[in-house]
Amino acid sequence: MKVLFTVFSASGNTARVCRLFAERLKERGAECETVRIRTDMKAPDVAGADTLVIGYPVHGFNAPQNVLDFAKGLPECENKVYYIIKTSGEPLHVNDASSRILDRILAKKGYSKRGEFHYVMPYNMIFRHSDDMAALMWQAARNTAPADADDVFEGKERALKASPFAKLTRCVVAVEHKAMPYLGRLFKVKKDKCVSCGRCEKLCPMGNIVMKDGLPVFGKECIGCTACSFNCPADAISIGVLNGWRVNGAYRLDAPREGLTKKDVCAYWRGSYVRYFREHGIDLK
Ligand SMILES: Cc1cc2nc3c(=O)[nH]c(=O)nc-3n(C[C@H](O)[C@H](O)[C@H](O)COP(=O)(O)O)c2cc1C
Repeated sequence: MKVLFTVFSASGNTARVCRLFAERLKERGAECETVRIRTDMKAPDVAGADTLVIGYPVHGFNAPQNVLDFAKGLPECENKVYYIIKTSGEPLHVNDASSRILDRILAKKGYSKRGEFHYVMPYNMIFRHSDDMAALMWQAARNTAPADADDVFEGKERALKASPFAKLTRCVVAVEHKAMPYLGRLFKVKKDKCVSCGRCEKLCPMGNIVMKDGLPVFGKECIGCTACSFNCPADAISIGVLNGWRVNGAYRLDAPREGLTKKDVCAYWRGSYVRYFREHGIDLK
């Protein structure tokens, strides 16, 4: 069995979860290939794979614009089986409808959806989760990804149903995709902080950042993924009107501390996070 992972991941969360799946699939004897979704990527060999996996982070209750564009560029492939692995910062069911446009694009090309998996990983925008939260999320993913990957290996159906409320919210918030290229023009570098490493240019999946005279210049194709600002080693990138939501710097994904309780879970949607952890093998007292 050959599984092709096509993954977009700005701060590494989705890529990490997809890697857990790939590790398990390889243990089962599958051949796995991973390609990162970027505007300058080579067309992946979808026809040569038995199963396609698309990995993406939820952006405004939707799949990111570059993932939709990637799907539009895929060849027609009658009955090609695909799964979706998505990550989001919050465990709310309002994220359940995020793949609807992506599914529509792929259905028109003949692809056949077999299932969708939703993992909660630390926010790369809005606010910084605590180290304890990040550790719990990563442990939760490690607990259940192998069994989910087994379902991929066995071709099992894993439907993720969306409520009418989730569908409506997805529709309304989809305006974010239209707004981002404008909001992205307000991204700026703090010249006194920038160390001219060029990491932002290299990591931008849209090729929207070009280094000029040692400083990044932002173009008009921003999708707001925050790969630039999150990964900046000097925290030198301001993300315009979204700056209050900026999160900078990788999370530590160590094993959770001993004795964590519900009180260590963030107050924001605490009940939903606690339920998510329980469903992923972590029963907090
Ligand atoms: C522009 C943007 C919009 C986001 N929207 C949502 C959202 O609607 N719901 C949510 O739970 N998380 C949202 N997030 C958080 C990410 O989905 C989450 O941190 C994800 O794990 C990041 O994955 P990555 O590192 O693979 O990019 C958003 C992040 C960004 C940058």
